[in-house]
Amino acid sequence: MMKINYWKLVTIGFFLLTNSVYGQERAALINPNVAVFYPDDFNPKANLPSFALVKEPEEQDTLPDSWKVRVEFSEGFGKSMAYIKTDPHTYLYGTGESTGSLLKNGLTKVLWNTDNAYSNRDLNQRMYQTQPWVLGVRQDGTAFGVLADNTWKQEISLGEGILFSSEGPAFRVLVIEGKTPQKVMKSLAKLIGTMELPPLWSLGYQQCRFSYYPDSRVKEIADTFRVKQIPCDVIWMDIHYMDGYRIFTFSPNRFPNPGETNDYLHQKGFKSVWMIDPGVKKEEGYFVYDSGTKRDVWVKTATGKNYVGKVWPGDCVFPDFTMERTQKWWSSLYKNYMANGVDGVWNDMNEPSVFGGPNGTMPVNNVHRGGKEHPADIHLRYHDVYGMMMAKASREGILAANPDKRPFVLSRANYLGGQRYAAAWTGDNSASWEHLRMSVPMVLNLGLSGQPFSGPDIGGFLGNATPELFGQWIATGAFYPFSRAHTVDGSKNQEPWAFGEEIEKVSRTALQRRYCLLPYLYTLFHEASIDGMPVMRPVFFADVRDLNLRREDQAFLLGADLLVVPKWANDPKLPRGIWRTIDLVGENSAKNEYQPDLKQRGGTIIPVGKVIQSTVEYNTDSLTLLVCLNKEMKAKGTLYNDAGDGFEYKNGQYAVDSFSAEKTGNNEVTVTCAKVEGKMHENKRFYRIGLVTEKGIVYSNWKNENQIKVKTLENN
Ligand code: GLC
Repeated sequence: MMKINYWKLVTIGFFLLTNSVYGQERAALINPNVAVFYPDDFNPKANLPSFALVKEPEEQDTLPDSWKVRVEFSEGFGKSMAYIKTDPHTYLYGTGESTGSLLKNGLTKVLWNTDNAYSNRDLNQRMYQTQPWVLGVRQDGTAFGVLADNTWKQEISLGEGILFSSEGPAFRVLVIEGKTPQKVMKSLAKLIGTMELPPLWSLGYQQCRFSYYPDSRVKEIADTFRVKQIPCDVIWMDIHYMDGYRIFTFSPNRFPNPGETNDYLHQKGFKSVWMIDPGVKKEEGYFVYDSGTKRDVWVKTATGKNYVGKVWPGDCVFPDFTMERTQKWWSSLYKNYMANGVDGVWNDMNEPSVFGGPNGTMPVNNVHRGGKEHPADIHLRYHDVYGMMMAKASREGILAANPDKRPFVLSRANYLGGQRYAAAWTGDNSASWEHLRMSVPMVLNLGLSGQPFSGPDIGGFLGNATPELFGQWIATGAFYPFSRAHTVDGSKNQEPWAFGEEIEKVSRTALQRRYCLLPYLYTLFHEASIDGMPVMRPVFFADVRDLNLRREDQAFLLGADLLVVPKWANDPKLPRGIWRTIDLVGENSAKNEYQPDLKQRGGTIIPVGKVIQSTVEYNTDSLTLLVCLNKEMKAKGTLYNDAGDGFEYKNGQYAVDSFSAEKTGNNEVTVTCAKVEGKMHENKRFYRIGLVTEKGIVYSNWKNENQIKVKTLENN
């Protein structure tokens, strides 16, 4: 009720105050499905270059009269506004990182990257990341998307229309039209780019806490995973590894020899990710502060002094990433750092978070000096892209340090298009049932906003999870694109074995399921890197015309073919048609109180690998093909394969295999496997067919052949 009143107020105010000046100033098509709208007082210097778009849009044609979604610009109350009228029955999604349910109709939120952990700012609607983007799906399943190409502090209101109102100058808006929401997502990816294919290890399960220390504790954690045979790929190092929270340093007591610690982890098949925050301790004699000061890279106050704000190390200065020399200097810091055998980097606190600063950050009139690439301007303009610029410079530094490896950066703050540089986690959630439930729509809407690689802290960050909550969370979390457990300083232990034998078993089974699905999951990540389709997708993607599915945000899809239905889901709305339950490691999900039901779509083939302890053991020499036939008794699937790291795949060293199945006789199905793309040599594979029937999976023997005939049960 409150939201409707609010919206009415906003729209009435909008029209009363601005009626005389609003209008659609100038519009053009940049391709047949994408239009750009400019306000008449558009000032390129105050808006460009775009942070979201990978290139400046070129106008190709005039806007046809039939173009449906139009933008009206106005100014009033010191705000620049763009209003997009929508049909009242439009379902709205996206809006980037946000709490609440999947459907965003009625939402009002400020886009102002905020360290939101304890403060619950704006009823928790102000988050760490900014994606000024809304996906609209009409009743008939056609869709559109609206992108406000604006980095200044702004607000989105979704009511009887979409309203972006900004504290900065007038901004342009892009509108995408699509026959389906999937087509809109692909068009968005052409505008804002895609995630680069990540290293395979980053798809594995990851174990974190604030913080594992000293080094012996890290080794102990790693050893326990192996002894207990619980699959895991990565151990994370939070701020306590540093020397007095000074970034790019290692505590001489806790981590005297980080190279040796990393070697140890590598020998056991683990990778390590270490945290780097933006705040640099203001202390003469500290090499990061000294070298940055020498190059004059810090953000300035309105009066031209180095801005100083408090973060973990006490007084800090902050790199001004709008300047090219800062980007280069920052990137260069990674050379020696990565030489310690560091595999990935965790960029945190980069909203930027400033303890006790105005609204938890730096003053909006602080000055970024810019240069060739970005014009000089105040923090109000650059705040929401600060984290993105940091992640980009980090990524470039990591790549320069290890040119033959795919960089991995996790960033808490980011902006639309930031999937090009970093994966995301959803910040400091709580060990609560509410936050477990909310994690699904959060990851879904990030995916619908261009970021396919995200996940929340499994188990919840603040507070202590009960065994039941952790068990449910890891059983579901095994299917997040980014699957990592994390917890706050001082909380109880939160490793899979910390909750007793039952939850240890639940965790092992959950993670075994994830690792078995890696062939399918990696294929999805590859797809996301090519065309921007989210890895985790809303259930309504299975049938965009079924209005019953439009609000479903407990169950979710992994790719197009696998439905995940958590055990805590209450009356989930599932798509019609053939969806059959599959078991992967003997879990018998129908009788299991933790493991989500996995349902495979009719007409598909899902490649499944063996249970392994880390991706170091990953290979596709033997695969089970789960074949779920459609009504026409046919099915198909694909597999993407490459070295799992490095860039040789860009030179053709990859393979795409396609699988097809059809009924070839009475009670007989023939499955054919063929390589369709790529130069990578693959050993002749052993295949086993698992025919997914209503009564369970019927397995064939293992065969070293590319064409396999299997007997079907009646009607399956
Ligand atoms: C922030 C991060 C959290 C991290 C902590 C200490 O709260 O969101 O993940 O553990 O800082 O670095």
